[in-house]
Amino acid sequence: MNRSRLREKLPLYDAARRVYTAEVRRRRQAVDPRHNFDLHPDATAGPLVDVFDRIRVVPGWFNPDDVAHFSLVLATQSAAGITGDLLEIGSYHGRSAAVLAAHLMQGERLHVCDAFEAPVEDDYADPATPEALWDTIRRVNPQLARARVEIHAMYSTDLDFDRDQRFRFVHVDGGHGRDVALHDLRLARTHLLPGGIIAVDDYEHPAWPGVTEAVDDFLVEFPDIGVAADLNRRGAAGRKVYLAARPCARASASSTTSA
Ligand SMILES: C[S@@+](CC[C@H](N)C(=O)[O-])C[C@H]1O[C@@H](n2cnc3c(N)ncnc32)[C@H](O)[C@@H]1O
Repeated sequence: MNRSRLREKLPLYDAARRVYTAEVRRRRQAVDPRHNFDLHPDATAGPLVDVFDRIRVVPGWFNPDDVAHFSLVLATQSAAGITGDLLEIGSYHGRSAAVLAAHLMQGERLHVCDAFEAPVEDDYADPATPEALWDTIRRVNPQLARARVEIHAMYSTDLDFDRDQRFRFVHVDGGHGRDVALHDLRLARTHLLPGGIIAVDDYEHPAWPGVTEAVDDFLVEFPDIGVAADLNRRGAAGRKVYLAARPCARASASSTTSA
């Protein structure tokens, strides 16, 4: 018997299917490390657990380890007096963008670029919209003014920032092919502040070899950029690498240029 015949015969079929699907999702989430902070029973939850609790229901791959790593980098920059806008290329439904927004300091803005429903090289079954993205950011950060978030609904290759635009942190998680990822890395470097960090997702992920090629080529092309951290995360096949401009290399490069 096909599904529509079954639906006619059993008026409760749809309701039962919804309950079943919700239960399957709940059980999957219970064992998926992307959705669990796994605190020790005696631990008192700190502020990050609260942020994570609000993003755990949002589709995406950003997990508790990522929340901790991003928070440490962003808070350390702020403590060191490094201020500037944040950029994310590839936001999907806003799971990572909401965490970035939670670290905005006074006067800073978050720029987010995603192709949303336009066709991309890597297929996403459930593409987000700019409205859904803002909804996620706002739910996690209810006090945040809409004007502090710029959503660029376009391909990253069409992004065109003012010459003077600078970012202290860029998350590169958009197109996972070599050419687009390399473009995004070059763009990030062009607009990176001294002390800035570029975080790249899915390094050495077996399904996305283009990201690894792009990062490796980028590091050869720009010797002033080094790997600050190369981190596995629970439940993720790829690693996140955190790239930073080497202060000495940049200083000597600019003194050579200006001589
Ligand atoms: C892996 S998802 C991002 C996940 C998100 N950072 C998170 O942690 O929840 C990649 C996103 O990049 C977007 N994307 C893919 N290719 C793109 C391109 N060329 N330009 C802009 N966005 C792109 C997709 O639409 C998708 O939403």
